[in-house]
Amino acid sequence: ALNGAKAGKSRNIIEKLEETGKNCVIFYGSQTGTAEDYASRLAKEGHQRFGLKTMVADLEEYDLDLLDTFPEDKIAFFMLATYGEGEPTDNAVEFYQFITGEDVTFASGATADDKPLSKLKYVTFGLGNNTYEHYNAMVRQVDAALTKLGAKRIGSAGEGDDGAGTMEEDFIAWKEPMWTELAAEFGLEEREAEYEPVFSITEQPDLTPEDPAVYLGEPNLNHLEHAGKGPYSAHNPYIAPIAESRELFTVKDRNCLHMEIDISGSGLHYQTGDHIAVWPTNAGLEVDRFLKVFGLDSKRDTVIKIKGLDVTAKVPFPTPTTYDAAVRYYMEICAPVSRQFVSTLAAFAPDEKAKAEMVRLGNDKDYFHDKISSQCFNIAQALESVSSTPFSAVPFSCLIEGINRIQSRYYSISSSSLVQKDKISITAVVESVRIPGATHLVKGVTTNYLLALKQKQHGEPNPDPHGLTYAITGPRNKYDGIHVPVHVRHSNFKLPSDPSKPIIMIGPGTGVAPFRGFVQERAAMAARGDAVGPTVLFFGCRKSTEDFLYKDEWKAYEEQLGDSFKLFTAFSREGPEKVYVQHRLRENADYINKLLEQKAYFYVCGDAAHMAREVNTVLGQIIAEKRGLTPEKGEEIVKHMRSSGTYQEDVWS
Ligand code: FAD
Ligand code: 2AM
Repeated sequence: ALNGAKAGKSRNIIEKLEETGKNCVIFYGSQTGTAEDYASRLAKEGHQRFGLKTMVADLEEYDLDLLDTFPEDKIAFFMLATYGEGEPTDNAVEFYQFITGEDVTFASGATADDKPLSKLKYVTFGLGNNTYEHYNAMVRQVDAALTKLGAKRIGSAGEGDDGAGTMEEDFIAWKEPMWTELAAEFGLEEREAEYEPVFSITEQPDLTPEDPAVYLGEPNLNHLEHAGKGPYSAHNPYIAPIAESRELFTVKDRNCLHMEIDISGSGLHYQTGDHIAVWPTNAGLEVDRFLKVFGLDSKRDTVIKIKGLDVTAKVPFPTPTTYDAAVRYYMEICAPVSRQFVSTLAAFAPDEKAKAEMVRLGNDKDYFHDKISSQCFNIAQALESVSSTPFSAVPFSCLIEGINRIQSRYYSISSSSLVQKDKISITAVVESVRIPGATHLVKGVTTNYLLALKQKQHGEPNPDPHGLTYAITGPRNKYDGIHVPVHVRHSNFKLPSDPSKPIIMIGPGTGVAPFRGFVQERAAMAARGDAVGPTVLFFGCRKSTEDFLYKDEWKAYEEQLGDSFKLFTAFSREGPEKVYVQHRLRENADYINKLLEQKAYFYVCGDAAHMAREVNTVLGQIIAEKRGLTPEKGEEIVKHMRSSGTYQEDVWS
């Protein structure tokens, strides 16, 4: 077995399918939950439309070196997200390495030459982002590997593009022909889809929210039973005190938070360049809206028990809980609503008029775009726009099935572990976007939650009348408004082990976060007498007087690092023309090339969509021009720097 079976839990998917009477497994490799969500949707659709007996499975939980014994009359789906620089998601690393490995050997001893997967029929879809260089690398490589091993693909290897914002439409366009082909292959008849709940929801009149057995936001049982003991991980966050919080911008209409998260005594560690994940809470305003739209506001504090109606259905969050807590802490209710979900809910519309409108929204892509997507509506806002009558007939199970579990958000740690090993700092810009055409501001869940925590910590008024309902109220309030659940994710974005190597850092906006940590670390090294090489930072923002992050701190680091520290700034909105970090890079081509010849490490952090790409291009041009090479050769050198680890990116979109 690849990963030594966990006690009492079978890692054999074939056995699991037999035991549970299933004929279709939908594996997912998911980081933020989208691939998992699509997997659940396919499982439901396969069952309801074609009578497939489906189950969803986390790739990490099964031994995939048994795939060569997968029966011919069953089918396996692989829903695979590509993460960061063409990497598998954490839960798919082992599967990916195994299946694409050069000398893949199955548990039976079969190797690639035996075409060991000739009985396997599979379906696959990838979730990627075309702003990254290795677009949908996971699905492409896994699909090629499965084919090479003899497996037969049903449908096309689908690719969804988050970069273009077309993920949902790509998914819908891919799955229809796939279902047709699958139905033909297995002789399945399509039937009239009728909603069947996946979960049973039972109200518990004997329990009140005060009962210690009831979950009110505690991410898991551990917190209740052991008062939050570690080890803390992606499955078990540490409820950390916020030691300090402050505003970094000097303008009124935009916010950027600096927070110090205290991890002392938690057993959590970090290294400079790592990420911290923050577990958010939905805004009171949105929780209220959601409960009202689904007619749940009068019973928001009713305790409910949620159970899977089928042995393979996993309840996505702890229960018993209340409607309020489920919506507030566990469900991603603010995300853009999908066309398919509106279509599913049409069956439960409060009247015929609303139903007709929802059916139209479900069927007409352009109409849906005009009415819903262009307004950036979440599910409750979308239904509010359809009818003011509550949608009380929607089963709560249907909402749990159709709405993602709330996801933690990552932040590049902006402190050095050498300087402050027990405190992690975050530099987060508060998302509050006026989308052209939309009538309201789209507010980021996590960053506005952090903003509310900061305001609470300082006793400042929150302009959003519901903003202060963020914190849990009640007898077992564990995070009293100045705590936040977190975990640490290790990354490969690292300083050179030899501090005398020069470093060049490109970090406009909050992209500067990890570089504050890098500079802090090099300054501390210099202070203790280490020989520290040139430490060169390119920072960009709108105006030197508005959003110049850590403006005064850089001067202090300059004193510690002396001449070896250089800060180049690009203020994009001060002059008649836009000036960006890549322009400054180009102006300093000689210097950059000289540093590269001294084996400098080159780092880019921040916006993946445009900045990171343009910086990559400009660097290739600088190398080519300064060394008298062709542009192609310049590009090749940058590629080589990437693969050898001297060009590192920490980017997001
Ligand atoms: P979300 O609620 O996730 O919303 C994000 C955006 O989605 C919104 O601004 C909006 O444009 C859009 N959106 C939301 N709801 C809707 C809707 N209903 N309809 C249409 N569009 C919608 N950020 C930092 O500030 N600092 C960092 O150091 C940092 N480091 C990162 C490191 C990594 C590795 C990654 C992956 C990301 C990093 N980020 C960082 C980004 C961060 O993780 C979050 O994505 C960001 O803070 C927004 O989170 P949020 O919950 O506030 O917004
Ligand atoms: P702008 O908003 O004035 O266009 C941090 O967000 C800084 O990055 C801002 O000064 C922003 O400028 C700038 N920026 C925007 N697009 C960029 C790009 N493609 N490359 C580099 N910097 C960019």
